[in-house]
Amino acid sequence: MKKFYLKTMGCQMNDHDSEVIKGLLISAGYSQTDELEQADLILYNTCCVRENPERKVYGHIASYKRLKEAKPNLIIGICGCMTQQKGELQSILKQLPHVDLIFGTHNIHRLPELLSRAEGGEKVVEVWDEAQYEEGQDFRDGLPVERSHRVKAFVNIIYGCTNFCTYCIVPYVRGKEHSRLPEKIREDVLQLVSEGYKEVTLLGQNVNAYGKDLQTQTSFSSLLADLNTIPGLDRIRFTTSHPRDMGPDLIAALADLDKVCEHLHLPVQAGSSRLLQRMNRGYTREYYLDLVQQVRKAVPGISLTTDLIVGFPGETEEDFQETLSLVEEVRFDSAFTFIYSPREGTPAARFPDQVPEEVKKERIYRLIDLQNRISGEKMQKLVGTKQELLVEGTSEQGLVGRTRTNRQVFFAGPEELIGELVTVEITEASTWTLLGKAGQTKA
Ligand code: SAH
Ligand code: SF4
Ligand code: F3S
Repeated sequence: MKKFYLKTMGCQMNDHDSEVIKGLLISAGYSQTDELEQADLILYNTCCVRENPERKVYGHIASYKRLKEAKPNLIIGICGCMTQQKGELQSILKQLPHVDLIFGTHNIHRLPELLSRAEGGEKVVEVWDEAQYEEGQDFRDGLPVERSHRVKAFVNIIYGCTNFCTYCIVPYVRGKEHSRLPEKIREDVLQLVSEGYKEVTLLGQNVNAYGKDLQTQTSFSSLLADLNTIPGLDRIRFTTSHPRDMGPDLIAALADLDKVCEHLHLPVQAGSSRLLQRMNRGYTREYYLDLVQQVRKAVPGISLTTDLIVGFPGETEEDFQETLSLVEEVRFDSAFTFIYSPREGTPAARFPDQVPEEVKKERIYRLIDLQNRISGEKMQKLVGTKQELLVEGTSEQGLVGRTRTNRQVFFAGPEELIGELVTVEITEASTWTLLGKAGQTKA
């Protein structure tokens, strides 16, 4: 049997695309391996949102040349967001001539045919500029999916992004916003529940914009309300929310719908209104802080997480101080922090006042220190509390489950609990993990 090695970079859209890619490869008669040397196909599902992971792709794939020398039939493939950028595609072709198979984010369903051509010795490069959607049909509909988890599953609800934040490449590589029909999403969730899944995470670059591009009168909050009625489904999560599109109906949905978990990932990016405007985020610092207040009032104890960028062009020390003070004020449960990385073709890459690399680094360390302190304090506060966990699987530290607020907890218990809701008491906390002791299971 032929074997594939699949490396996935980037966000949850890519994680889920990889589940489809795995499904297609398994249907094509391949099995998965973690050993590069064993592979007949090495495939990289890439991300281009920042430069660092891109460099990795070039480094890794260049080094696989020797594997190909040892095994001439080895197919090396690159897919995902990097291939959707014209300039990047050209440099892949030039710098990595030993790559045999290239496809993009809009033609994953074409993989079986493209792969068989590559197996026949052809160098295959097929990238589509945009997705082709037929009446209510998506190209991913009906494709086999090999899911990474047994208890929780990803469900796409909206593809693409049309926000054009000035730093971001995603709208250029993932295309226009395109919502799936609510009945298709419901069908997917019903199917998952019938297979035993207990939790779904609804995916989109901006889930709050769900439905705006559809003929049908619908919205993200009404989609949530609809899915909330599905028997057998325990939990609903979603990511990512854009603060600008976070209306009162969605806040009410978070508060009122019992399956919708108390966690909101609400990327703020920066604390200075001047920078937010230059980023084209469409909100001010004051708006964001007010929104956080409203959310916390409606859903006490909700976990708030965010994304932050340091060193955006023109960021002064004062601007950066505003990011620090916003982080102090909001006290996020955790945050992803990024150094601004200029992306070719985006407006911000052409802004004249780029911040020197040393300044960016120094700032991100300060920001990480602050957030780690806050995250640690918030975790400590959980010690002694009782939490409802959905048990996801096993780990070296015993069973692992997640709280409704999306925190991982390790505890001892029998494997039969996987897929069940369990109440544990938190006994120990560090910045990243919690340990717990099981009490009774919820019927
Ligand atoms: N759609 C989501 C996030 C997509 S990308 C949203 O709007 O929130 C994930 C994160 O990467 C972004 O939130 C941002 O913080 C970061 N990011 C995007 N482009 C970047 C760039 N050029 N440099 C550094 N970080 C970037
Ligand atoms: Fe990028 Fe902004 Fe779209 Fe998020 S909302 S994917 S940051 S352009
Ligand atoms: Fe990266 Fe593409 Fe996601 S660029 S962040 S993998 S949409």
